[in-house]
Amino acid sequence: MKVLFLNGPNLNLLGRREPEIYGRATLAEIEAQVRARARELKVSVEFRQSNHEGELVGWIQEAVGTFDAVVLNAAAYTHTSIALRDAIAATGVPTVEVHLSNIHAREEFRKTSLLAPVCVGVISGFGPTSYLLALEAVVRGLAGRKPK
Ligand code: DQA
Repeated sequence: MKVLFLNGPNLNLLGRREPEIYGRATLAEIEAQVRARARELKVSVEFRQSNHEGELVGWIQEAVGTFDAVVLNAAAYTHTSIALRDAIAATGVPTVEVHLSNIHAREEFRKTSLLAPVCVGVISGFGPTSYLLALEAVVRGLAGRKPK
């Protein structure tokens, strides 16, 4: 099984970006945690980050046929990107939406995810553990279900 972890804008700044909200772990440290668990689960993972919406769209399109599932922290694009939503819907690649923070406990504009309706599920608010829970969900087969 192969799982593609995609990270959106500003997540390259984790560790020093608003640590009171996002914690002190860097993206590289989160990746290391995911890789350690993936090894135990015998899952192959790939981790990418981009500040560019179009690059994320391209990676979702390319995931078809190569990856069994995508774990997506689209960051701010979660709340704005019809293009990312359309890419998930068009490809049908099973996608789990993740967030470090609890987007429902923050500003009003973060409470809306344009992506959630086309994702298999959403994990939000557990810091780096959100990524590990998403991996767990994929391995347990939840991501094999197509969104309705
Ligand atoms: C985030 C939440 C988003 O609202 C925000 O724009 C981010 C990070 C999270 O992981 O908590 O950049 O996706």
